[in-house]
Amino acid sequence: MEAAIEIKQLVKTYKSKIGDINVVDHIDLEVGKGEIFGFLGPNGAGKTTTIKILLGIIYADGGDARVLGREVGDMAIHKKIAYLPEKPYYYEHMTGIEILRFYASLFKIKDEAKLKGLLERVNLANDGHKTISQYSKGMQQRIGLAQSLINDPELLFLDEPTGGLDPIAHIEIRDLILNMREEGKTVFISSHELSDVERICDRVAIINKGRIASQGRLEDLLKGGRYEITASGVPEGLAKSIQEPDTLVSFKDGRLIVDMPDTTSPNAVIEGILAAKGSVISVIPRRKRLEDLFVETVRQKNEEEKAGGRK
Ligand SMILES: Nc1ncnc2c1ncn2[C@@H]1O[C@H](COP(=O)(O)OP(=O)(O)OP(=O)(O)O)[C@@H](O)[C@H]1O
Ligand SMILES: [Mg+2]
Repeated sequence: MEAAIEIKQLVKTYKSKIGDINVVDHIDLEVGKGEIFGFLGPNGAGKTTTIKILLGIIYADGGDARVLGREVGDMAIHKKIAYLPEKPYYYEHMTGIEILRFYASLFKIKDEAKLKGLLERVNLANDGHKTISQYSKGMQQRIGLAQSLINDPELLFLDEPTGGLDPIAHIEIRDLILNMREEGKTVFISSHELSDVERICDRVAIINKGRIASQGRLEDLLKGGRYEITASGVPEGLAKSIQEPDTLVSFKDGRLIVDMPDTTSPNAVIEGILAAKGSVISVIPRRKRLEDLFVETVRQKNEEEKAGGRK
């Protein structure tokens, strides 16, 4: 995997009344070219700080960070990367197209057709003449994405791209990000919107209090789903005969419910139900959700810390 971002033992320290705090605490991270990478963590975990270090906006106090093969802070990178900040700030009196013209001028781009194309791409073709003060939150987010695409970047940093948007706007932004992957771009997304992350990201890292608590391919991290089998007309005695490992058997409203790991085939249980003249009503595969993984990981790290003290 060719790396777009390589971070080794990165540290950022802020002074506080109670002493120095490592808000980024020796993190290691690698993002491959062409990946959509999700950077998750509770409020104040250090996500925006890490992104700002990668962009060269603030400096690290230790460790190494490379972006597209160059040291952070190397201005040559800026031609190839883009950033959509957590709270983009645009002049309210400027129109959408004026904003794009302004950012285009920073890259010495004078191609009006390109800017119109970007407005179209983010579904603002008919709203380019409106001022930012007339834009809804979703429209502001979309003009932000259009702005971040002006220099045709290889790597995009999106800090909370779908925060506070309605479900339709979520889908629109999600689709725009998925298109970026098709174009071979690398996208580094910090987000609290775990269902969006689950749909679009290839790999994720969870950061907690400045440390990486978990990192890997979503597919691997979300292993451990379950099947829920519901059946009716089954004698209660059958429950005792179901002895698969890690399986919960219960009766509710006269229905048998079997909750079992998806690593075991449900066939034996289904055959048992049929042999007892019962009817299988449903077999529902329940995937582990990113939300479960997130909550489990953060809770576990906080408990470990409480038990052992922070090292
Ligand atoms: N300039 C600063 N001076 C002192 N502390 C700071 C500064 N900037 C950030 N911090 C602290 O660093 C920690 C990490 O902040 P950061 O903004 O990176 O969090 P985050 O993960 O992006 O959170 P959120 O999900 O709320 O956006 C927080 O405790 C924050 O208070
Ligand atoms: Mg943040």
